[in-house]
Amino acid sequence: MLYQIDEVEKLSRSEIRKLYSEYVNPGLASMLGLLNFDKNFIRAEGCYVWDSEGNKYIDFLGAYGALNLGHNPREVREALNKVSSRPNLLQASLSTYAAVLGHNLSEVAPQGLKHCFFCNSGAEAVEGALKAARAATGKHKIISCEGSFHGKTMGALSATGRKKYQTPFSPLVPGFETAEYGNLDDLERKLKSKDVAAFIVEPIQGEGGIIIPPEGYLKGAGELCRRYEALLIVDEIQTGFGRTGRMFACEAEGITPDIMCVAKSLGGGIMPAGAFITTLEVWEKAFGGMEKCLLHTSTFGGNTMACAAGIASINAIVENKLPERAGEMGRYMLDGLKVMKDRYSMIKDVRGRGLMVGIEFETAEKGLLNRITGGAVNKFYREFTGAMVAGELLNGHRIITAYTLNNPNVIRLEPPLIITKEDIDYLLNALEDIFSKNSDLFKLTFRTVKTVAGSLFSR
Ligand SMILES: Cc1ncc(COP(=O)(O)O)c(C=O)c1O
Repeated sequence: MLYQIDEVEKLSRSEIRKLYSEYVNPGLASMLGLLNFDKNFIRAEGCYVWDSEGNKYIDFLGAYGALNLGHNPREVREALNKVSSRPNLLQASLSTYAAVLGHNLSEVAPQGLKHCFFCNSGAEAVEGALKAARAATGKHKIISCEGSFHGKTMGALSATGRKKYQTPFSPLVPGFETAEYGNLDDLERKLKSKDVAAFIVEPIQGEGGIIIPPEGYLKGAGELCRRYEALLIVDEIQTGFGRTGRMFACEAEGITPDIMCVAKSLGGGIMPAGAFITTLEVWEKAFGGMEKCLLHTSTFGGNTMACAAGIASINAIVENKLPERAGEMGRYMLDGLKVMKDRYSMIKDVRGRGLMVGIEFETAEKGLLNRITGGAVNKFYREFTGAMVAGELLNGHRIITAYTLNNPNVIRLEPPLIITKEDIDYLLNALEDIFSKNSDLFKLTFRTVKTVAGSLFSR
């Protein structure tokens, strides 16, 4: 039996969970079910989603930076409608829309970045950038940072600084090393031998826990790369398209990297799209001329729909001045969170730039409980506090957030850049409510255990 598209909407949540467990990822189905995270969301617009019971939720997660324009933005839907009868995939001819998106991306990118390679995701953009760096320099060593996240395909994973994601897949691609994030001396030690093709770095580490490096770090890294003849690849996949208060976060230090990776909001929150953009010089060395122009390709990369979404998305971000808006709203949110940090000891730190904000929780329970469990309680807090607070926000206040992948005791706030002050106030009040009711971690744990038990017994 095959389901028809019209039948899909009629499936109940328990039928969907069963299908997902049976045919997709059973572990994920269990995990989301346990914390009661999995709802039947049936509509989405702007910063909001609605479940099948008519409840409205505010999305403060924003698909990790893929929803800078919000859910289903009008401008992007209109662009997709306009091109819907054009050929979407036709490799025998140059894609009109890829040519135009290339031009537009170059217009908004740091000066000097020009040639684009289009693909379908962030990891693919990183793969392409790493290959371009190796081909352009003739060297193979790549330096990335501890705590970094660049994606989960083999090359991108080799640059991702978290053992948990790497270990089951080893051996990874040879030639990768890490340097401490934010530490130029360490980077210089790694670059000195002049055998490095590229240093790849996020302007702010997203999955690492919203980590902002010291001022001048990117600029210094660029200078070191030039001195030791390595390329600088900046991964703007999460920070790009206005998120941090500028079109691209690296602009804060006035630099032009040799290669920049983008994805997420490039597709306007609807189409999968990624790209790397590089200088004429790097492009010529890596892929210049007819002999090398097809060294790196992708069937769906540069398809009409994705590029039309990209053109509309960039225009909407520029026309609506979303980078400026992100700066203003981000300051407002961070100011509110800082007040809360001074009042609640379970908040260790709040930090961010623009609408890329993290709340880090205290994980040290110094009492008897931790000692008699041999440190297990602290380990539990480190792994689960972010998830517990995110669960409370979702189930108690209908606010969607999540913890960061490499640092689970940090929850990240990356709402669409169109978020309003009223919605930020609603979030701040909800957090106030959670922190005042759970003045210590133990109470929060207890409440979460009740949710988990509740969702187990309601099955
Ligand atoms: C900085 C950064 N690079 C790369 C990626 C990988 O992107 P994708 O999940 O589209 O492969 C991500 C995803 O979160 C990211 O945040």
